[in-house]
Amino acid sequence: MNTPDRITLPRPDDWHLHLRDGTMLAAVAPESARHFGRALVMPNLMPPVVTGAEAASYRDRIRKALPADSRFTPLMTLYLTEDSDPADIRAAHAAGHALAVKLYPAGATTNSASGVRDLDRVTGVLEILAEIGMPLCIHGEVTDPEIDIFDREAVFIDRVLDPLRRRLPELRITLEHVTTAEGVAYVRASEGNLAATLTAHHLVINRNHILAGGIRPHYYCLPVAKRERHRVALLEAALSGDPRFFLGTDSAPHPRAAKESACGCAGIFTAPLAIPLLAQIFDEAGALNRLAGFVSVHGARWYGLPVAEETITLERRDTPLDLPARIAAGKDEVVPFDPGFPIRWHVVTG
Ligand code: NCD
Ligand code: ZN
Repeated sequence: MNTPDRITLPRPDDWHLHLRDGTMLAAVAPESARHFGRALVMPNLMPPVVTGAEAASYRDRIRKALPADSRFTPLMTLYLTEDSDPADIRAAHAAGHALAVKLYPAGATTNSASGVRDLDRVTGVLEILAEIGMPLCIHGEVTDPEIDIFDREAVFIDRVLDPLRRRLPELRITLEHVTTAEGVAYVRASEGNLAATLTAHHLVINRNHILAGGIRPHYYCLPVAKRERHRVALLEAALSGDPRFFLGTDSAPHPRAAKESACGCAGIFTAPLAIPLLAQIFDEAGALNRLAGFVSVHGARWYGLPVAEETITLERRDTPLDLPARIAAGKDEVVPFDPGFPIRWHVVTG
């Protein structure tokens, strides 16, 4: 079959991104701004971004970290705590300071200690979100130490997500970085008000990449990559054209020393290569015609924003993409994701 070796897309959006703050922000923000037009920025700073005022000030810091000619738009999220003020959330949404609220079960992942222990304590906020149509982005993993880490997403869906959706069907929920066949099936079976982000790296790696033949900390993130059959289910969802699935890279930079450690932290840094990598994946699957939906269209529609008018063009070349093995972040360095195969798609304009 003859596939095109050039493709033009509306400028992609990243619907789940960690930009950090300070020196790390300065190092990684330009990496996202190179290919993406907008990103939904996660609020798990230390301390977290809880109020509308904190989100507005974080957005200013992000803008200052961008190249002067950048048109990249950071879209902000508020970190849900058991003390979050529903009136502040309503006002932040109305003022355009925040597009969504992020629910981290306390202890589920990096910087989630201030998250929610008991969903009943945030009922007031959730009711306001449902009323104003502000989406709730959910890190969907239980934190119960008795539950095996590879089962935490599926158990979260049964124990927490499904009951929540039955109790509050008007609430619009983005199930973030889905990693299981159960997650895909749950989203597909839903009748509305539910969408899901998929990362690029979970379309590439399974748990063998992390653990077989040596432990590879740069493939460790949360939710952790699962068995191959789950990766295949995620890939099918991404390639399917179903508008409920779209890209959220979950690009999550950490200093190299914090990853290559006896207790290495979770997070994979994919911002520099996510779009070329996805072009490669969709091309190999014969689904290049669905790439724009996944990276540029479905997410914008879900969040009620216009699809970008600007475009980017990618080209398949014989020479593979030459990515730096490390990106400097002040005294630290960050290691970008290595998919383990050459990427032949290059962003040539935009
Ligand atoms: C994220 C981080 O480092 O902030 N880590 C990760 O493994 N994805 C947090 C998160 O999104 O879970
Ligand atoms: Zn994340």
